[in-house]
Amino acid sequence: MTANPDKSASPQRYFVKSYGCQMNAYDGERMGELLGTSGMVAVETADEADIVLLNTCHIRERSVDKLYSEIGRMRVRPDGTSPMMAVAGCVAQAEGAEISRRAREVDIVVGPQAYHRLPDLIARARKGERVVDTDMPVESKFDVLPKRKRQGPSAFLTVQEGCDKFCTYCVVPYTRGAEVSRPWAAVMDEARALIDAGAVEITLLGQNVNAWTGVDEKGQAQGLDGLIRALDRLNGLARIRYTTSHPMDMTEGLIHAHKDVEKLMPFLHLPVQSGSERILKAMNRSHDRDTYLRIIERVRAVRPDIAISGDFIVGFPGETDRDFEDTLQIIRDVDYSLAFSFKYSPRPGTPAATMEDHVSDAVMSERLQLLQGLLNEQQHRFNQAALGRRTNVLLERLGKKPGQKIGKSPWLQSVIVDTDLPIGSLIEVDIQTAGPNSLGATLAMEEAA
Ligand code: 5AD
Ligand code: SF4
Repeated sequence: MTANPDKSASPQRYFVKSYGCQMNAYDGERMGELLGTSGMVAVETADEADIVLLNTCHIRERSVDKLYSEIGRMRVRPDGTSPMMAVAGCVAQAEGAEISRRAREVDIVVGPQAYHRLPDLIARARKGERVVDTDMPVESKFDVLPKRKRQGPSAFLTVQEGCDKFCTYCVVPYTRGAEVSRPWAAVMDEARALIDAGAVEITLLGQNVNAWTGVDEKGQAQGLDGLIRALDRLNGLARIRYTTSHPMDMTEGLIHAHKDVEKLMPFLHLPVQSGSERILKAMNRSHDRDTYLRIIERVRAVRPDIAISGDFIVGFPGETDRDFEDTLQIIRDVDYSLAFSFKYSPRPGTPAATMEDHVSDAVMSERLQLLQGLLNEQQHRFNQAALGRRTNVLLERLGKKPGQKIGKSPWLQSVIVDTDLPIGSLIEVDIQTAGPNSLGATLAMEEAA
């Protein structure tokens, strides 16, 4: 047992730190809300907290090492006492009891499908038990979590979790489990609660969000496009987004929603990972490059101004210079507005981890630099094309300089505006400057009649 004098006292202040994707950020918010309804209050730093919750991500390199060094840093507070420590998220799911064996200061290990049980787990930990809960229970955490509370103008709403695609590099199917869609009514109720709490924009989240299926209140089968159309009818909501999509779940209905659903923003995150046919096969991506390009063409045919974003992996096992050149080529063919790119990282338990011909780190670095150079150029060009355009911006936060606010354009560009209008305002602006990562704008003046 570690010296931990505070553990018998009732923890009042909690600190949640989330790593990784937006779905994890959503989970982190929900855990915080749950602790809030159990009478605890949020604090800004781990040092002030009685309970520290690390909501981990396992998608790429060194996640386990990073976790242990974070635990090491946060284990003792400045006054010499120790907080209760909980590890949640995908590393918790993947490593389970190993975490509490290796790090004695961890009191609770809880997986992404079990965190609704946190109040109970905390109660058990207070009695001195070291708790590990990595179940994927039949009851859904969403049925138990408290109603959504006060929100910023842009809110996340998880509608789908898990993945059945089994790309050979990816841990998600193992850490998040099989594809599950939240029921129609649950999603609509949460959307209404978010709007009541101040949300103007909702981003629907899922590992494969466009694999969402459900049955509407009339008993009709619906896909994600049906859900988007129903959200479009909610008063008070101005913008709808969704992420992340899989090319093979990009239905005709969803493509068409980009034409006729006014609140659906002209932005599509559609990862392809590689432009090489051989590597796409080895990745088990279930689509080839042409299929991907045809989907982009179809989306652009109905919504010509749509911004396309993607994810790329360089240095998948066996990737040759030729394969990498094919990836650069698909990037040139698509012309992305935004992209995320990573060096391949072998994930324990995934098929690719045991494949031969691993690419050296030096080669991966070189390829990543080339690829990011090209993507940055595309992003800058995309931003420059907005110069002089009149568009709307949803103000989301304060800027660095006094009087500045930062918001997002419909195409998900960050826009800096000098204005006294409050955060949450959806305003018309004229784009005046375009940098690689953001735009500058002024309030649009009404044209003289
Ligand atoms: N190595 C590198 N990148 C990965 N991703 C997923 N798994 C790995 C891995 N093992 C990337 C993919 C995915 C994004 C969320 O993370 O590009 O789309
Ligand atoms: Fe991972 Fe592939 Fe599923 Fe995306 S589609 S979560 S990359 S297995």
